[in-house]
Amino acid sequence: MTPQIEIVDLSPEGFVAARREIAEVYRRAFAEQQYPHPDREVVRFRNVLSRHAEHSGFRCKVARSGQEVLGVAYGYTGGSGQWWHDVVAAALPSEEAEQWLGDCFELVELHLTPEAQGRGVGGRLHDELLSGLPHSTAALSTLDARTRALYLYEKRGWVPLLTNFAFPGGAKPFLIMGLDLTSRAPAS
Ligand SMILES: CC(C)(COP(=O)(O)OP(=O)(O)OC[C@H]1O[C@@H](n2cnc3c(N)ncnc32)[C@H](O)[C@@H]1OP(=O)(O)O)[C@@H](O)C(=O)NCCC(=O)NCCS
Repeated sequence: MTPQIEIVDLSPEGFVAARREIAEVYRRAFAEQQYPHPDREVVRFRNVLSRHAEHSGFRCKVARSGQEVLGVAYGYTGGSGQWWHDVVAAALPSEEAEQWLGDCFELVELHLTPEAQGRGVGGRLHDELLSGLPHSTAALSTLDARTRALYLYEKRGWVPLLTNFAFPGGAKPFLIMGLDLTSRAPAS
């Protein structure tokens, strides 16, 4: 019998301990499809994980089948001095930057191995990661294209803040999205 996919919480310490496994999910979800040198990209990704785990408000959920990790979602409280926050804040009109990024949970990663995709697991990870957050808003970047990720975000109320956005040094256009968390029910 195939074990069911369960969503479990990882502490910052658990996340750092599992970083090799987490980076392998990233390899299969992204790096092999989108990067000419996947190994290099996986090493880069793995190396930022410990730093991300130290951020205030860090939260991570993983999707597991037995002991195998099939999906990861994590984020943390955004703030000045963080690269993504500062680049996006500078591109938004100042009132919008304050409104969307002033008290914001950054959804940094949400990805699944190819076999786990298309089965509702991404939605479960998303919903559990954002459930009961104390922040007013959440923000993320995703490719500016009609991907499965975009369907997922639109169905859950995310709205575009910046379209066709070019990160410094990046080639592909991104969409910056925001989600109002104030109208969501508190965690039970
Ligand atoms: C993006 C990703 C996390 C989505 O997770 P998933 O489990 O594969 O997504 P699902 O199949 O559950 O689809 C998500 C939602 O979009 C909807 N959807 C998907 N394709 C759709 C389409 N063509 N038209 C309309 N709705 C669609 C689904 O119905 C589902 O809605 P629900 O959760 O309300 O039921 C996953 O596919 C993935 O890891 N992709 C590769 C990495 C990636 O792109 N990550 C996102 C980076 S920002």
